[in-house]
Amino acid sequence: MQKKLESHFLLLFLFFVSSSLGFPWSQNKQFNQAKNYEGSSDLIDLQYHMGPVLASPINLYIIWYGHWNQNHQATIRDFLYSLSSSSPYPSVADWWRTVRLYTDQTGSNITGSIVISGEFYDSSYSHGGYLSRLAIQSVIKTAMNSHPRPLPLNPHNGLYLVLTSADVQVQDFCRAVCGFHYFTFPTVVGVTVPYAWVGYSGTQCPGQCAYPFAWSKYSGKPPPVANGGNNIMKAPNGDAGVDGMISVIAHELAEVSSNPLVNAWYAGDDPTSPTEIADLCLGVYGTGGGGGYTGEVYRDYWGDGYNVNGVKGRRFLVQWVWNPAKRRCFGPNALD
Ligand SMILES: *[C@@H]1O[C@H](CO)[C@@H](O)[C@H](O)[C@H]1NC(C)=O
Repeated sequence: MQKKLESHFLLLFLFFVSSSLGFPWSQNKQFNQAKNYEGSSDLIDLQYHMGPVLASPINLYIIWYGHWNQNHQATIRDFLYSLSSSSPYPSVADWWRTVRLYTDQTGSNITGSIVISGEFYDSSYSHGGYLSRLAIQSVIKTAMNSHPRPLPLNPHNGLYLVLTSADVQVQDFCRAVCGFHYFTFPTVVGVTVPYAWVGYSGTQCPGQCAYPFAWSKYSGKPPPVANGGNNIMKAPNGDAGVDGMISVIAHELAEVSSNPLVNAWYAGDDPTSPTEIADLCLGVYGTGGGGGYTGEVYRDYWGDGYNVNGVKGRRFLVQWVWNPAKRRCFGPNALD
């Protein structure tokens, strides 16, 4: 009984600190962590805490909240399709292979199959232009209760991705986080399902959440690039906000898959502030990355930066994640 109570308190606690992606450049601590972690490190105590990972093929349900640009939606969909499609090496699916190295206690790996199984257009801003963290769960509930064409309630292998448009404010968005993942409460949604939220940052805070395609005006300088220049990296799909969002979506998908109930893979002793597999590699996109330097990435003819290929000839820039076998941050564009 007491145990149960404790775990309820723990859940409540966890809710308020639910796993979030902060800013890659702004927090020196994170900067330095990323820098240190690109090289192999035995200091990282990433541990498995016995909970489930997303091992079954994932049915992904997208909720487009607010007013969305169709080109932006197409870019995001193509990124999501690329996760389980084959594209020229190094591909988005090759990047996901690092995530697949994580297993649960039965030895099942994270799935390689992520299928967009439904989309819901909440263009009437059902919960207003400002969303608290908890309200994101209500947005999911609304999509499931909609008539016609509700999103299915899929507690077996559903993953819900809430994407908010440029004009939507979200609690802590642009001040502390660019995205977060967590799980729904039965009292709000009816069941416990994992979900993630990511906001479009192109107009509200590209300097915070669309790094390295934009640079904060408060930081004084753009990110250094390999040739010693200071030019801002150009976005491979033509929009800093959406290209920045892609990397945040990648970050959240990696973490929700390896820590869906916040009791599986994370570092640190404190489950109220877990450091997860993508947190360890914030701001690292290539070999040598960290400390405000993206690392070695590719540049196309126009100066667009990218590190992986996707479907339809698209290119994306996604941050690296922690590789548990190599014990360092890794991506398929690694030079070593
Ligand atoms: C599953 O995870 C194990 C342990 O990390 C790894 O050795 C194996 O290659 C993974 N399998 C796949 C299909 O990724």
